[in-house]
Amino acid sequence: MAAEIINGNEIAEEIRRNLREEIDQLKTHYGIVPGLCTVLVGDNPASVSYVTAKNRACEELGMRSFHRHLPAETSEEHLLGLIAELNQSGEVHGILVQLPLPPHISEKRVLEAIDPNKDVDGFHPVNMGRLLIGEEIFPPCTPAGIRELLLRSGTRIDGADVVVVGRSNIVGKPIALMLVQKRSDGNATVTICHTKTRDLAAHTQRADILIVAAGHPRAVTGSMIKPGATVVDVGVNRVGTTESGKAKLVGDVDFESARQIAGKITPVPGGVGPMTITMLLANTVKAAKLSLGLWTPGCNK
Ligand code: GUN
Repeated sequence: MAAEIINGNEIAEEIRRNLREEIDQLKTHYGIVPGLCTVLVGDNPASVSYVTAKNRACEELGMRSFHRHLPAETSEEHLLGLIAELNQSGEVHGILVQLPLPPHISEKRVLEAIDPNKDVDGFHPVNMGRLLIGEEIFPPCTPAGIRELLLRSGTRIDGADVVVVGRSNIVGKPIALMLVQKRSDGNATVTICHTKTRDLAAHTQRADILIVAAGHPRAVTGSMIKPGATVVDVGVNRVGTTESGKAKLVGDVDFESARQIAGKITPVPGGVGPMTITMLLANTVKAAKLSLGLWTPGCNK
């Protein structure tokens, strides 16, 4: 029997509906409008379109959206000055500096300059550390989206054998940390595989939940999947163009063979992708609540 498809568009829309209500309540009861400021340095076309999508999504939900667009030759000092200003702003609850930055600017110094309580990307070392010790505030957006897809598709995480393929700081490592935590949406037994893993298939074939963020197409095929497993495909690979001239996207999982074996599977596009911006919005709402003392670590919903 072919796998059930986990619809990321539908799940993202459901979460956005809940966020919209929460935003309305914050306005009505506390007079606060969650605000996100995106910062873009240079004109990288992909970055421009990502940032535009993030700002638009904020506005659609009734949040405030600020945008600072700086020329590619901006100095690191100038950018750090802007971040210091945004850290102080009462209207900006979340700050997102779009990556990559031009090569003359240190990403590390810039990310570390963001107030950790406004770091809605969750990339600041303080937030990575909080995640590690089970005091999560801002989970990085893609891993947070993956966890929501698992929960809302009825996949049991508690006690599951999870295999993550990929060890990036943005996806592989944080999702592994999140799912291993001693909490009701964790309690998994997690293995992280990577380019030096000796026998990848031996690991993936044991996984009740297989999360693939390998960074190349067909890294996982049907024969590498345990029958009935839930497969989450984080990959986005451009492989030519469709008949209508749009970029053709495929994931890191060979969808056609995988769907014959898996119990549930996320498609590309329409799986993890729509969740990432949604979780950025959720983190921004959380940042606004944090600023009012309405949210503290441990009260996680
Ligand atoms: N560039 C590509 N993805 C991301 C992201 O999630 N956050 C930021 N800040 N930059 C990115």
